[in-house]
Amino acid sequence: MSVSFCGLQLAHPVINASGTFDLLAANTAFGESLRERFPFAAFVSKTITLEPRKGNPPPRLWEAPAGLLNSIGLPNKGLQGYLANDLPAISELLGKVRAQPPVPLITNVMGSTAAEIAQLLNACEQREEISAVELNVSCPNVKTGLDIGADPVQLEVVVREVRPHLSKPLIVKLTPNTADVAACALAAQEGGADAISLINTLRAMAPGGGSPKPWLGGGTGGLSGPAIRPVALAQVAAAARRVSIPVVGMGGVQSAKHAQDLLDVGATLVAVGTESFRDPSAGSRIAHELSGAAETPANATPDHPGASTLLNLK
Ligand SMILES: Cc1cc2nc3c(=O)[nH]c(=O)nc-3n(C[C@H](O)[C@H](O)[C@H](O)COP(=O)(O)O)c2cc1C
Repeated sequence: MSVSFCGLQLAHPVINASGTFDLLAANTAFGESLRERFPFAAFVSKTITLEPRKGNPPPRLWEAPAGLLNSIGLPNKGLQGYLANDLPAISELLGKVRAQPPVPLITNVMGSTAAEIAQLLNACEQREEISAVELNVSCPNVKTGLDIGADPVQLEVVVREVRPHLSKPLIVKLTPNTADVAACALAAQEGGADAISLINTLRAMAPGGGSPKPWLGGGTGGLSGPAIRPVALAQVAAAARRVSIPVVGMGGVQSAKHAQDLLDVGATLVAVGTESFRDPSAGSRIAHELSGAAETPANATPDHPGASTLLNLK
């Protein structure tokens, strides 16, 4: 099950999706059992920006049919707060996790200009606790004006400009809110990315319940969870066909079967996001089951028995 990813040796192919697993809160809630049976082969931080952000006004969450709509708005302590407080705490905790090989830390960053991103990468370069960086070039629920991930030309320019600031692996996290995700994947590769990850949340809106004002405080939000799984599969497949660098696939993964589907279309790693809110141990469950997934009929799920089973019903 061990996987080599951008020079990192990982115990298995399952990691967390940025912003969906608060490691320090999980440690408070689960303590020793979290360190005993850590759910992920690498840990990805939530997005860090240069300056602190309060996030969007409430309400921030809306339960969509088969999904979650969030308008959290990337609240974070900013780069200095992260480096001074969260990074040492996360790193100390990961050091106590009983896993072999050890669980590396991937820090997720976002900036609204190449100069801002370069500053973030410079800081990550200097901290040995950080093994790799994931660059978030999409965020549908924040009014930063950052939309570089949706335009392949601009994306390639920005990635090329910031690349020299980091010698560690650089993963570019693509936006699904674009006309041609495969073109963006190729642009990230041409700009110098070592890997790409996708998909981020899909821009969506919750009804205001009779009022023209939408429900979420941020107006629009990002849709995640099972509802986006078929979109994720299509976009991961399209991106993986176009690039030669590794792909981290995510979007609605709840089971080993869903993870295997992404691996089958070309992902090297799979990230678990919204499912961790329902089941915080989803990562280890999926990693554990993944080795047996090949024995399951190709299109079988608990709610869809699979064509081969249906054919036997005559
Ligand atoms: C509550 C919430 C917070 C998120 N925060 C971030 C974030 O800080 N940075 C980021 O790149 N993606 C963030 N995402 C997107 C996820 O990392 C992931 O790309 C997306 O949710 C699709 O995976 P899923 O369907 O398994 O959740 C967030 C998603 C959710 C639901």
